[in-house]
Amino acid sequence: MKHFLDINKTSADDLHTIIASAKATKAARTGMPKAALDAELPLKDKMVALIFEKPSTRTRVSFDVGVRQMGGQTMVLSGSDMQLGHGETIADTARVLSRYVDMIMIRTFEEQTLLEMAEYATVPVINGLTNRTHPCQIMADIQTFEEHNGPIKGKKVVWLGDGNNVCASFIHAAGQFGFDMTFAGPKPLDPEMEFIEEARAKGSKIEISRDADAAVEGADLIVTDTWVSMHDPASARERRHNQLRPYRVNRALMAKANEGALFMHCLPAHRGDEVTNNVMDGPQSVIFDEAENRLHAQKAVMRWCVE
Ligand code: CP
Ligand code: NVA
Repeated sequence: MKHFLDINKTSADDLHTIIASAKATKAARTGMPKAALDAELPLKDKMVALIFEKPSTRTRVSFDVGVRQMGGQTMVLSGSDMQLGHGETIADTARVLSRYVDMIMIRTFEEQTLLEMAEYATVPVINGLTNRTHPCQIMADIQTFEEHNGPIKGKKVVWLGDGNNVCASFIHAAGQFGFDMTFAGPKPLDPEMEFIEEARAKGSKIEISRDADAAVEGADLIVTDTWVSMHDPASARERRHNQLRPYRVNRALMAKANEGALFMHCLPAHRGDEVTNNVMDGPQSVIFDEAENRLHAQKAVMRWCVE
């Protein structure tokens, strides 16, 4: 049985297989109605639980649609409506759900919740975002980069802003897919050193910079995300805005990157804060391809889980 818990916990070979499969099944669906079934139905007669302890638009809809296209059925569960949100243990929840469903996707706060779910479930568990990582997002982002600009291996990715959960999964991907990465942001919001060292040990150049202009030189991809994540206290907003303003992605920064460099944002965006409107809607932006590829990449993840 295979779980998809993180990019650094899945072998590089398997990650490449998943990306190739995402590209192939996306191509095979060209022109098909959105609710039409795929030619192959790896989730036929399977039931998938989608648990959300935090809000979601993309993850929720793309998993739901993806399961249905592959012949399965879904149930979307809100953490607060479950006994899980009222004191039942994760271990008991995992063992109970495993008697009813064939796969569990969970978006939660603490990484420990995900890990315990995986430990006690007897069906595959997929990470739909924790405070620490967001692997499904970055699988879609790798697919998106490669569709536009070819293999990501050897390229330079620059992350601007908060070294958050999405940034962490990008660092994991740097190690696994063999690209370099520069993080540019304020020191208190640096990504976890453990992740940086792990990617470096795999041969990727991972740099930390305080200077947005210098960081984006030679970039093939510029990425940012919200300055205040769902798990951050609202009281942090003002301080973070002050710390992060120098790292806002604007046209001048994009112009310093390599020719043909792409811009990504996992969405939802706070237009005008971490990124200007003219970058979001500009020619280098591939934000809606990223959003679409959540569907294709996650279908490939689920297929890999049940194979
Ligand atoms: N990017 C992403 O995970 O979006 P949602 O929060 O809408 O699922
Ligand atoms: N870093 C953001 C990503 C949302 C998809 C958050 O965790 O809120």
